[in-house]
Amino acid sequence: MTQPPARLLILGRSGQLARALAAQAAGRFDAVRAAGREDADLARPGSATGLIAEWRPDAVINAAAWTAVDEAETREHEARAVNARGAGEAAAAAPALGARFVLVSTDYVFGGAPGAPFAEDAPPAPVNAYGRTKLQGERAVLAACPGAAVVRAAGVFSGAGSDFPSAMWRLAEARNEIGVVDDQLTGPTFAGDLARRLIALTLLPDAHGVFHCASGPQLSWAAFAEACFDLAREAGAPSARVKPITTADFPRPAARPADARLASTRLEAVTGLPAPDWRTGLSKALDAWLSSR
Ligand SMILES: NC(=O)c1ccc[n+]([C@@H]2O[C@H](COP(=O)([O-])OP(=O)(O)OC[C@H]3O[C@@H](n4cnc5c(N)ncnc54)[C@H](OP(=O)(O)O)[C@@H]3O)[C@@H](O)[C@H]2O)c1
Repeated sequence: MTQPPARLLILGRSGQLARALAAQAAGRFDAVRAAGREDADLARPGSATGLIAEWRPDAVINAAAWTAVDEAETREHEARAVNARGAGEAAAAAPALGARFVLVSTDYVFGGAPGAPFAEDAPPAPVNAYGRTKLQGERAVLAACPGAAVVRAAGVFSGAGSDFPSAMWRLAEARNEIGVVDDQLTGPTFAGDLARRLIALTLLPDAHGVFHCASGPQLSWAAFAEACFDLAREAGAPSARVKPITTADFPRPAARPADARLASTRLEAVTGLPAPDWRTGLSKALDAWLSSR
């Protein structure tokens, strides 16, 4: 592909990232189509490939996934059908069209104990079913489409739906104090910042392999919750006290990595875009959350 891609297909329509991608891609491509499950169901063999063959995109960004981390523990085969088999099948349709393929993956392919942020080539070791299916998806995509780019993101938020800040602000409507884990580290990333970098990467035909995209400064979920409430307090929105707790205090069906921080060096070098600062994104997320209440 020597020309910039003219037709962009986004797999996913209602998801927080898919919506950010659609908003930012408009005007940058001749045609943009965001496909919902009814147009391209990754759990159904032939569904996404049918759409790709019919619509003939020059680039595909797969922002659709089974994202219910806890539910994946008991429904791993269903999560795998979407995140691994479905993603791989969609990617396999790209080379025949000369189309670019970009898969969004996750920091949960790592299961790290606290240490340094993970480099792109660090050995993955998922600690839950969701992470396993996403890693299988990465491998399926790169095997089917060696020119594909896989972008691992972390703690994606937008101020809409069930993302972490929205959940915190919603809980604060009913509670004065909220316990949040303080022994898990992350680099939460605003969906709009991730979308900008995914589009930049999509426009670079030679950028293939694994990339990381996480915002700074990286911190614990409890510290991030504090920031959500500090901002809400300034805006007169619901806020609460954060009670730092440990992972052991808050058992969940799926284990979480203690340190899922990502080093985004490769993405920054290739796109020229610095790692985003989640503080800017958090203000935008609060505006979005307040306007949708
Ligand atoms: N959220 C995070 O914290 C986070 C962190 C790291 C990486 N990621 C990755 O980022 C990407 C986008 O996540 P997100 O936060 O935007 O998730 P999201 O808001 O939960 O959206 C997921 C999207 O996937 C679609 N989907 C689910 N099953 C599907 C299927 N069988 N066929 C077609 N579409 C299907 C959903 O459609 P419906 O609306 O029809 O259900 C929805 O549009 C995913 O690859 C995720 O793994 C997310």
